[in-house]
Amino acid sequence: MQGKKQIVTRRDFLKVTGSSVAAVGAASNLEASLIQQDPKKARIATVGTGSRGIGMWGAPVVRDYSDRVQFVGLCDINGKRVKVAQRLLGKSISDMDGHLRSEEKTSPAQGNSQQIPVFTDFDEMVSTVKPERIIVTTMDSTHAQYVIRGMELGCNIICEKPFATDEEQCQAIIDAHKKHQKQVTVTFNARYGLSATKVKELLNAGEIGELYSVDYAEYLDTDHGTSYFRRWHGIKENSGTLLCHKASHHFDQLNWWIDSDPEEVSAFGELRRYGRKGPFRHANCRLCTHKKECPFYWDITKHEYLMDLYVSCESEDGYFRDGCAYRNAINIYDTMSVQVRYANKVLVTYSLNVGVPPEGQIIVFNGSKGRIELRNYARQPWKPPARAEIRLMRNLENDSTLIPVARREGSHGGSDKLIRDHVFIPDSPDPLKRRASVRAGIMSAIIGIAGYRSIERKTPIKIKDLVTI
Ligand SMILES: NC(=O)c1ccc[n+]([C@@H]2O[C@H](COP(=O)([O-])OP(=O)(O)OC[C@H]3O[C@@H](n4cnc5c(N)ncnc54)[C@H](O)[C@@H]3O)[C@@H](O)[C@H]2O)c1
Repeated sequence: MQGKKQIVTRRDFLKVTGSSVAAVGAASNLEASLIQQDPKKARIATVGTGSRGIGMWGAPVVRDYSDRVQFVGLCDINGKRVKVAQRLLGKSISDMDGHLRSEEKTSPAQGNSQQIPVFTDFDEMVSTVKPERIIVTTMDSTHAQYVIRGMELGCNIICEKPFATDEEQCQAIIDAHKKHQKQVTVTFNARYGLSATKVKELLNAGEIGELYSVDYAEYLDTDHGTSYFRRWHGIKENSGTLLCHKASHHFDQLNWWIDSDPEEVSAFGELRRYGRKGPFRHANCRLCTHKKECPFYWDITKHEYLMDLYVSCESEDGYFRDGCAYRNAINIYDTMSVQVRYANKVLVTYSLNVGVPPEGQIIVFNGSKGRIELRNYARQPWKPPARAEIRLMRNLENDSTLIPVARREGSHGGSDKLIRDHVFIPDSPDPLKRRASVRAGIMSAIIGIAGYRSIERKTPIKIKDLVTI
């Protein structure tokens, strides 16, 4: 993160973070001895108590799955943030103003009835509260170390995407998984979208015959897109660029739809709008002298929840949640173009464009018998006919079939709830094979990694030259 520990270097890799804040450690031991464990419930613990750790894998889990699982520990490198998380997860869900997306606030429910023990040292947490499953929601470049250490300590793993941010991490996870054989789930919620699901069904049904190629264009608007440049994501060593952080969702969808392995990747990337390309800069928005003229000025003080979770914790690590999108340290790209060749000869052309209106996706599948066009509407100034539209066309036919995709309630279009059901209700059916394990996690991350290596080295990259699966 920025501040004291801005970049996790290769040397830090596999050396699990041990920056104990004495006060938290001491308190946590006391609390750990007080928590009553219910033998009927699976013991889970989280490392990384930021917005995803709380909003997706914290509060809704307490609300919806408390009959099955029990949080026994929370860990974060930031000793203040982990205490905020403890407080938030202990509150009534309906009181947790602003920190759940509005769609998540459906039913008031009680928070965790007991104080969850908190830690800043991962090993200490695991040895003290002995979780069966670890949820990894830390900064991207630190996932691998907790996935591996968690398995070494005997835990099953639930990990956010991207699974890893460089090829060494990928190989280390593959090797550790072979050795420890623990259950690992990578949480690709984008597989659960209604339009992604419909496309998978059409492809499985052979509606366009054999798949030949896919054109995937992703557009992030100035609001959503700029947010990546304000945060730790703007530093390649933290996020593996947006080709890992963001596009790992899309590369995973592609792998799942195409049902084959990527073999070779070629990419270009440019920084056109943000970072050093900006006309002026400051450390963060709050203190900036260019508030009036900056198109990306954003006032975090209006967001009570973010003030609590990030601003009140700045003294621990110096991390600004409202960092300047024009800061010189930004070394990722905002405009990217990637080509991928798969083992089954499918060719993919992918682009990721940040800071462009409107937000959404256009994805086209070309097959031996026809074509599927998918248009996902996320945010635009006009009212779209549906959440998404799928048009199915057949070769040599003048007509097409329009398949509207309904709007579904819930965060990420309801996908987050579905993936939580899959994760916490083990016997729930999975006809489209959406549960993703180590292989899927590696295969999506490695396309992004090969992408940024191709940009760095100005040459195509073969996946087999990066990892051995
Ligand atoms: N699937 C999705 O749709 C989705 C959406 C948002 C975020 N995410 C993923 O969730 C993860 C967390 O994202 P976020 O938005 O909550 O970020 P965040 O910055 O809000 O939270 C990350 C937390 O990790 C902590 N942390 C950083 N380095 C650490 C270390 N070495 N050890 C322990 N804790 C450490 C930070 O202090 C912070 O509290 C990321 O990997 C991100 O890619 C996924």
